Amino acid sequence: MKKTVKDIEVKGKKVLVRCDFNVPMQDGKITDDVRIRAALPTIEYLKENGAQLILMSHMGRPKGEPKKEFTLAPVAQRLAELLGCEVKFAQSDVVVDDSVKAIVSEMTDGDIVLLENTRYRKEETNNEEPFTGQLASLGEIFVNDAFGTAHRAHCSTAGLAAYMPAVSGFLIEKELKFLGDAVEDPARPFLAIMGGSKVSDKIKVIDNLLDKVDALIIGGGMAYTFYKAMGYEIGKSILDENGIELASQLMEKANDNGVELLIPVDTVCATEFDNDAESHTFRSSQIPPHMMGMDIGPDTQKAFAEEIKNAKTIVWNGPMGVFEMPNFAKGTNAVARAMAEADAVTIIGGGDSAAAVEQAGLADKMTHISTGGGASLEFLEGKELPGVACLEDK
Ligand code: 3PG
Repeated sequence: MKKTVKDIEVKGKKVLVRCDFNVPMQDGKITDDVRIRAALPTIEYLKENGAQLILMSHMGRPKGEPKKEFTLAPVAQRLAELLGCEVKFAQSDVVVDDSVKAIVSEMTDGDIVLLENTRYRKEETNNEEPFTGQLASLGEIFVNDAFGTAHRAHCSTAGLAAYMPAVSGFLIEKELKFLGDAVEDPARPFLAIMGGSKVSDKIKVIDNLLDKVDALIIGGGMAYTFYKAMGYEIGKSILDENGIELASQLMEKANDNGVELLIPVDTVCATEFDNDAESHTFRSSQIPPHMMGMDIGPDTQKAFAEEIKNAKTIVWNGPMGVFEMPNFAKGTNAVARAMAEADAVTIIGGGDSAAAVEQAGLADKMTHISTGGGASLEFLEGKELPGVACLEDK
């Protein structure tokens, strides 16, 4: 167990808080503020307890240079609205300079300052000096609450822990509790649902989960690589060449471990990768050469829903089809609905599946939706996350 903000005295202290404010933006406007809201409990706790908060985050991948489209200015504004208090944005193209130091030195208890995008500095993603030391010069305590970035060993997510006491915020605590309990101590039957396009991206997660689950559903683009491994023709469907052998090994492991493996029995296919393309449903072993798989078919939806109904713990990562196109979102929506109705602990592993559940209006029906895409996958792989490993133990 890691120490949290509750385990340390914060009154009158300058606290450097790493959040993940990497939110989707369009034309300078935030289109989804879930990650900002998820950071509020820690920020509010620290403010109420008299800390002076210096917030840090990255936004996008500006590759070590200041780029206007990646500024955190809109986040400062949104945060101020959500908190109902002033959030001072310490704009600086180098993130820490004399003007920023002056702003920080004038802070009083309960004040909140947000630094500029930490990835404006090239040292950030390499966890290099002098940036870590410059950030460290601003504060006395490091709080990491950026679960979405906890799989990165960067200056602001891990490096700071070498300079000062380092504890977790409530978001990281909550994410570790839900994801950790689901995997380590699940109510059974424990079902994992894996989708998305590439087997090789998720091989380690599937491999690790095959030691823990009772049943595994494979859907989405990666299913076609499994079909190929089973000897089916897949027409123009997406194929992960490097994943064919891996898919065979995973099927073998599922068999050896007595894990029930469910692969779609029917597939909605289209002539083009287009929402309005002509489409038909086929048995998965009979995809015609000129068509591509776009979604799971109705028989598969029923079979998956039945499996979901019987489970007591369900972890879902990756859509069942091209859910961004309404005509091919039915399978993903059917899984989301079945999960919403299940009498089970339901965990969504961030990224596309989180977006799908939001889009279906079912977010509040899930036990936990992770704010981490890559981070939750690495956690489910059984890896230690550097942004967590660096924090003090209780
Ligand atoms: C995410 O959106 O997954 C996190 O903010 C991490 O971003 P990154 O993949 O650019 O490190």
